[in-house]
Amino acid sequence: MEKFLIKGSSSKGVKGLINCSGAKNAVLPLMASSILFENTVVLKNVPLGANDVQTMIILLKSLGSKVQIFKKKKILKITNKKKHKLLVKYKYISTMRAGVLAMGALIGKYNKCSTALSGGCSLGPRPIGYHLAGFKRLNCKYSLSKGYINIFSKNGIKGGHYHFPKVSVTGTSNLILASVLANGITTLKNISIEPEVLDLIKFLKNGGAKIYSAGKRTIKIYGVKKLNGHQHEVIGDRIEAFSYLCTAAITKGSIKIEKINPKYLATELKVLKNIGCNIKVGKSSIELNRKNKLKPTNIKTAPFPGFATDCMPMLMAILTKSDGKSKIEETIFSNRYMAAPELVRMGAKINIKGSIAVIIGEDELNGADCISSDLRSTFAIILGAMAANGTSCVSRVYHGLRGYSNLYNNLKKIGVNIKKKS
Ligand code: EPZ
Repeated sequence: MEKFLIKGSSSKGVKGLINCSGAKNAVLPLMASSILFENTVVLKNVPLGANDVQTMIILLKSLGSKVQIFKKKKILKITNKKKHKLLVKYKYISTMRAGVLAMGALIGKYNKCSTALSGGCSLGPRPIGYHLAGFKRLNCKYSLSKGYINIFSKNGIKGGHYHFPKVSVTGTSNLILASVLANGITTLKNISIEPEVLDLIKFLKNGGAKIYSAGKRTIKIYGVKKLNGHQHEVIGDRIEAFSYLCTAAITKGSIKIEKINPKYLATELKVLKNIGCNIKVGKSSIELNRKNKLKPTNIKTAPFPGFATDCMPMLMAILTKSDGKSKIEETIFSNRYMAAPELVRMGAKINIKGSIAVIIGEDELNGADCISSDLRSTFAIILGAMAANGTSCVSRVYHGLRGYSNLYNNLKKIGVNIKKKS
């Protein structure tokens, strides 16, 4: 169990350049979608250092896909040599929610599959009721036994209509994967328009899928006979980019992120500007430095293009050093403030009441022993540790290694005083 020892400084700012990795939440659905293709799929700019990607590789191999990894070039080649197995084991879903995406691809290709129900996680329950309700509209039936959902469509997947009660990112991706080879036309309403979902749609269309916008948060999918493998470059990881920008915001440093489209972070960059950060954007880069005191702010998370729930824990961390009272309302998950008690151990003033967090900025934080409990909280705690006086020991950093490639090396590279401790 790896720990990070971080010697913070309330005065020394980070400085440097970070090459943004490919987006974890884009590459996972892209990898799952490879099941649908006749021949080889080539994915470039793959964040191979993110452990969830390794888990998805093992999952695909367990189903029978041939996966070739070209580490240096960050390329994955996935070939479907034979009919896939139709069982997605619990061990691939228990640590990685995105394993549920294999369900949509297997149903889309084979009209049936058995997938383990993903457990809850520290963010709160992670239900898949919308996914299942959508599959039913595509002429599927399902039953639950021993923690596995068995889904089948007797006469094959048929196009249908489904209106999501709430925007669901993997729900949208799953139903798209289930319907691209269906008989007939599928209409999906109130879909997620996260950049990662749009990247999946682009990839599928370039492989021959017929997916068209049909109004606000609405798409129509005309089923086709087959999809042809091709090359695709994974988009930059907007959550990773925001995370590293926050290292400069909380330590009065100066960071440049390259290989990221600033349009994916328009709302979040506006908030960083409002609280006193200087931001400069290029075509595929973002620079942040901070000279003045951080100002407080009020935000509410929302599906894209609103403020991303995944960026919220890092914003909460930097607001602990602002000059006043801030308020955050988390509208997506029921338990997304897991970093708060750890930052409070460093002397932060954060009061959580239901979905609301009130943060009273402090001049100084002090190093403490902390425990991470989920992917984004890990980075939020690290931010606090970087800005605190003295040393912090952050345990269970494996949560962070699920989604951040080269986390340790990147932090070292920008000047964080960090050591690994087993
Ligand atoms: C995706 O999770 C991301 N994960 C999450 O990123 C991200 O926080 C989340 O979208 C919201 O943006 C991946 O893409 C792999 P949802 P997902 O379905 O798809 C409720 C990270 O840190 N809901 O959009 O699982 C659900 O409980 C991770 O990288 C249902 O009620 O989230 C939540 O309240 C964390 N029933 C809301 O909808 C359903 O069937 C949004 O969930 C599905 C969802």
